[in-house]
Amino acid sequence: MFAKTFGRAPRWIASAPGRVNLIGEHTDYNDGFVLPMAIEHRTAIAGDVSGTQNVTLHSATNGETASFSIGRDMRRGEPSWANYVKGVVAGFSRLGASLEGFHAVIDSDVPLGSGLSSSAALEVAAATLMEAIIGSTIDPTEKARLCQQAEHEFAGVPCGIMDQFISAMGRKDHLLLIDCRSQTGELVPFKDPTLQVLIINTNVRHSLADGEYARRRAQCESAARTLKVRALRDATLDQLEAARTGLDPLIHRRARHVISENLRTTEAARCLRDGCWERLGELMYASHASLRDDYEVSCEELDQVVELARNIGARGGVLGCRMTGGGFGGCAVALVKADQAKTISGQISEGYLDKTRRRADIFVSRPGAGAAVTAGGTHSRSSTWRKPVSSSGKASPPAS
Ligand code: GLA
Repeated sequence: MFAKTFGRAPRWIASAPGRVNLIGEHTDYNDGFVLPMAIEHRTAIAGDVSGTQNVTLHSATNGETASFSIGRDMRRGEPSWANYVKGVVAGFSRLGASLEGFHAVIDSDVPLGSGLSSSAALEVAAATLMEAIIGSTIDPTEKARLCQQAEHEFAGVPCGIMDQFISAMGRKDHLLLIDCRSQTGELVPFKDPTLQVLIINTNVRHSLADGEYARRRAQCESAARTLKVRALRDATLDQLEAARTGLDPLIHRRARHVISENLRTTEAARCLRDGCWERLGELMYASHASLRDDYEVSCEELDQVVELARNIGARGGVLGCRMTGGGFGGCAVALVKADQAKTISGQISEGYLDKTRRRADIFVSRPGAGAAVTAGGTHSRSSTWRKPVSSSGKASPPAS
């Protein structure tokens, strides 16, 4: 596709995964804990420098082309999908890297707008391509933050750090327990071949830019102020109950979700390590109920999927199920017995069609790897970017 669009072979191909969050929802922007894994679906960017300050992007997914110039006054614009790349370029520019324009073709098999972080996958893939272009890597946590800022400024979603962090740092066969305050991750192995992570797309498109996400974040910040803590991560359920009369009932419920979800998430990581699957399943169902009732970010279709999964139950091979990601549509995640996964998928899709008249897309994913340059990545992973890189520091083209 790159050769067809730009008349030559790409110099680099960078890619980054989407993610599914097993538990720990709407906790990241409260300095809390999350437990996601990278999925095997990825966004890839094939690119080469353009020889000018112009960037031309072609989307293989929708056939559109977008262009912009690298400069100080880069702003949000149309088409909206190009903003994610523009935001990342602006971030590198802010770091002081001497950038040049590039041509790129973007392709992805991460379902869009489904709560599987298609936007973070695009941002992190773009940042990985930028690293190849400047010939140096930046610290992965800094890279995640740069991409998060791109999302804030160029997509208008005040998201937390989870999606960009796991997309940049996911590891095959592992989940990552991320402490979103210290922005550090602890690998949690997930290698048991008898278990599988099932992702159920309700095909209800969600949009986090419509204000509900930002509203939740503001409500949490208001609860933290009333409780006189830096962030809800620092509050206990006892503290919350003691402050009940001074809190608006809605704000109380929002805070109760976040505080209890942090407890569930750290416990879930222990369960994964110890193989306590039954308890892990209970925590997933409890997380869903809390997101549905206290945080109010679920929707009828997601609730249906979770109910169908619960009715199949442990006997039928379902250990636990919950909505995943920002909510208001998108996907549910279920932990299932591998040898029953196929039957369970059939039962859920049939039941879902029956109840909602909608088709669900269901697939399994093992924990996949984080971002990488998959072709032409000749720069050393150990060379970390610290100061503006001169043109002689650029990555060399691949041998063939
Ligand atoms: C979106 C955001 C994340 C996180 C989740 C909810 O995916 O991008 O930062 O807040 O919602 O857990």
